[in-house]
Amino acid sequence: MTETQNRRRLIENLIGLLATQIVVFALAFYIYQESTRIETAQNQVLNLQLEDAMSLYAENCAVCHGLNGEGIGSNPALNNPALAEMPYEDLYKTISRGRYGTSMPAWSKDDGGPLSDYQISEMVGLVQAGDWAATGDRVVNLGLAPLIPFTTQPDVLLLEQVGTLPDGPTLQAAIQLFAAECVACHGADGLGTKIAPTLNNPLVRQKTADELNRTITFGSAGTLMAAWSNKLAPEQISGMVSLIQRWDEIPAGAIPAPDVPIATTAESLALGQTLFSQNCSRCHGPEGQGTQRAPALNVKSFLTDTNDQAIEQIVTGGVPGTAMPAWGDRMTQVDIQAIVGFIRQWEASAPEVAIPTRGSGGGPPWLRTNSTTTTTNANTAATTQTGAMATGAGTGTGSSSSGQGNGQGGGQNQVASTPAWWQTLNWPILLGLTALLSIAFTLISKGYTTLKKK
Ligand code: HEC
Ligand code: HEC
Ligand code: HEC
Repeated sequence: MTETQNRRRLIENLIGLLATQIVVFALAFYIYQESTRIETAQNQVLNLQLEDAMSLYAENCAVCHGLNGEGIGSNPALNNPALAEMPYEDLYKTISRGRYGTSMPAWSKDDGGPLSDYQISEMVGLVQAGDWAATGDRVVNLGLAPLIPFTTQPDVLLLEQVGTLPDGPTLQAAIQLFAAECVACHGADGLGTKIAPTLNNPLVRQKTADELNRTITFGSAGTLMAAWSNKLAPEQISGMVSLIQRWDEIPAGAIPAPDVPIATTAESLALGQTLFSQNCSRCHGPEGQGTQRAPALNVKSFLTDTNDQAIEQIVTGGVPGTAMPAWGDRMTQVDIQAIVGFIRQWEASAPEVAIPTRGSGGGPPWLRTNSTTTTTNANTAATTQTGAMATGAGTGTGSSSSGQGNGQGGGQNQVASTPAWWQTLNWPILLGLTALLSIAFTLISKGYTTLKKK
């Protein structure tokens, strides 16, 4: 009888122990979840606002305040810790009303700008708590990286040629000024960019000198076109007006595009790689080594002689009279820049002489080597760490946004080959559950054998 009692007691003890274990683990699990849950909810709201603010920054502010808020030329930095400490009201006022007598425009709808009160408060949030590395990635991914340096050098020979035109020296001075102050927005030869209109076309030439003079002197409210009377003397402004009105006499190429490397992120390089293999590899070879149909792009000579703007121009306009299509009709500028960024990363390892792929360039997918993929991974990791972090923060689900988000983001570089589900596992919880299960099994099997013995 005592033996049965002992056994029963043993089983009761075991069950009690098991129950206590479960309670302790459940409690630990709850505490773990709850502390992150509140934080996560708060972070989510903040993150949504910052998300929005990053795009607004890319569209409206990066051109003057720089890719990562570092400032450009005389435009101040916004990623400045002292600015983040500035009272909310002061920042709000600066952004909504602008700074009178400077090129900082008013952004509030009340003052003729494009932003709502809510959007301005989001911008204040960005200045106070933004992730500037992620903001820089956003700017690049939207294809809005500002041209730095802002300036370019006029072509020496063509500039000399301009000197022989009537009133040549005025035009020469205006070209030099345009290359120093206006080219970043109004583009090479004044042909426009995606942020500012062309000045070199018949419609603008038709405008009166007065009209043009007024726009340059006073700017255009609510747009990026600043009042240049702050910076330029009246005779410099009238020189710009002459240039704009007589642009049809100026030889093309007098004001080249600034030589600015196209900025890349992990995301843009991946996009470039996909677009290249979908659209270009059948002629240029899977790794850009050329085929019988088209020349190699992955060779030293081509890559060192051709800057990013030139490659962008070739791809956009095609090569008339050859098989090279004009891609500007079917792809956005962002797509084309992603491809150029992808092609550029071959430069470090490009061979002096390319060995063209034979046949139709690549063959069926299962016969291709995957070395393109390997190169890209290595380069991606080296180019931008922050790219992966931005992706992590942008796509991270609620539960992984604190602490673990960073770990995942950083890991994405090396573990590109591990499946996605692997990276989403919540390791502390998984380990806890495994421990719980193994204890439970041990106890149950012990209890079972004891019962069986009886
Ligand atoms: C056309 C160029 C330009 C654009 C575009 C621009 N800014 Fe500015 N911003 C300036 C200049 C120049 C100043 C410095 C004004 C001064 O001297 O007080 C400035 C100042 C500021 C300041 C105050 C900095 C300080 O140190 O006091 C903030 C904040 C600011 N800008 C935010 C923004 C935001 C947000 C946007 C986009 C919505 C933006 N800016 C767009 C040119 C620009
Ligand atoms: C920060 C970018 C930026 C810079 C730098 C800039 N502009 Fe502009 N400019 C613009 C934008 C944007 C517009 C269009 C404004 C609008 O939509 O009303 C514009 C419009 C103009 C116009 C009116 C064009 C028309 O069709 O009527 C003239 C003229 C002009 N700019 C001249 C200049 C000159 C000259 C310089 C250099 C001294 C210069 N801009 C520098 C952004 C810029
Ligand atoms: C139908 C075939 C074909 C396709 C598809 C094609 N290209 Fe080309 N590409 C050519 C040919 C042919 C040339 C050489 C043109 C010439 O003779 O100057 C060329 C030239 C170029 C050049 C200039 C090379 C040099 O040495 O000057 C670049 C850059 C280029 N292609 C990029 C691209 C990109 C990027 C894509 C995909 C978006 C692409 N090409 C798709 C046929 C093609």
